[in-house]
Parts: sequence; C-alpha cells; structure tokens
Amino acid sequence: MIILAGDCHGDFREVLATVAGYSPDTIAGIFFLGDQTPNRPLEQELAPLGTQLLARTWFILGNHDSDHPRFLRNHLGMWDHHLHNKVITVDGVRMGGVSGIFRKDIWYPPEKALWQDRTSLGKHELFEGQLPLKHWTTIFPEDLAAPWEPMDILLTHEAPGSHAYGFDVLDHFARRRGVQWIFHGHHHEDSMGTLAPGIQVVGLGLCQCMVWDPSMLTHAHAAVSRSGSVT
Ligand SMILES: [Fe+2]
Repeated sequence: MIILAGDCHGDFREVLATVAGYSPDTIAGIFFLGDQTPNRPLEQELAPLGTQLLARTWFILGNHDSDHPRFLRNHLGMWDHHLHNKVITVDGVRMGGVSGIFRKDIWYPPEKALWQDRTSLGKHELFEGQLPLKHWTTIFPEDLAAPWEPMDILLTHEAPGSHAYGFDVLDHFARRRGVQWIFHGHHHEDSMGTLAPGIQVVGLGLCQCMVWDPSMLTHAHAAVSRSGSVT
C-alpha cells in the first residue's frame, strides 16, 4: 500500500500514527504533498518511521516550504527523495511529482508566463547567487514541458482544474502522461473530483492521510481509507 499525507505544517503526528497502524513490510511508499514546513530536519521529524520506511519516503514542496530558509534547509537531508520532476515506480505504480505553486511574477495560467525557466530568471534576479527563496517553490513552464515519462499517479501541491481554485494546465499535463489519479494538497480540504477521461482527483486536508492500494488503478471508485475530518 501507499500512504499519502496532506499539508503537515510542522505537525507529523497524524502521519506517524497512521503509519504505526500497519506493518512496515506492507507499506511500499509514503508521500508528502507539500507544506511540510519542518522545524527540524525532515529525517529527524520522521525518525519514528525507522530507516526501512524512511528509505521509502518521498515529498514534494508546497508554497510555505519556502516561507523561511530553515524550512527548505530541513528538507535537504532527504533531497534525493524530492519527487519534483521525477517519476519513480513503487509497488508497480509509476508516481510523478510537481512541487510548488503558480505565482503571478513567474507564471499564473492561463496568463502567459513571464519567465519560462529558472536559468532565464537567474540572469535577471538572483539573491546571494540563488533564486529568490519563494521561487524555490514556484512552478515554471519548464517543469511541465520537460520530457516526462508516463505515470499512473501525479502528486501536486496545487490543485488541477476539477477544484474551484485549480489550474487546467495540470489537467492537460496529466492527460498527456496517462495519469489515472492526481493527489494534491494546498487547500486544506478533504475533496474528490474527476477529470475527463476518468482521472480521479483527491485533495487531502490539513495533516490528513490516505491509505491507497495499487488495485485502485483498476477499481477507481472503490472505497479508500482516509484519516482526519473534512475541513
Ligand atoms: Fe500550500
């Protein structure tokens, strides 16, 4: 099974409690949907998982993960498990991730992008040799234009177009890659939606966890186990 965790905002008790309810051998992967904002290195926050499960833990970033330098730095110990612009296979399921949100000073679809990529922005605007902090969690057009592999599940912080505050550009991206399920955070809402042709969209609430089984790829409307309350 796969466990997904909505915006933790520094509170990892719910995901740790959810994981503790299962044998580690049955958990193929743990995925964080952004806005972890860890006050300690993420691997310390998640140390109760143990090394076996930490090795199977992945994350994307949310907008608040660049609110303070320490939030970003506290992800660095697990940076090779940052799923942004990557597709990995877990329990036979191809999972890809896109970190960050759309911002008007870079790209706010459907408006035209002001900057296509980080290199172009970097020629214009650097802070101490780095991109401005907030743009470490900004989606650039280059992120969605990259030669992505096909995937079954897409993890985003932003919502796709099925959500009232979502973005259709993520729908198009998902369709082109053969995505069947999209999981997102950001809005602190326990929500479900659909996108043609048959893409299931799940939004997880604040600290909310979902236990998802790969069999869901062929039984899209089966029940799933979700923790926490609807907010
Ligand atoms: Fe967010």
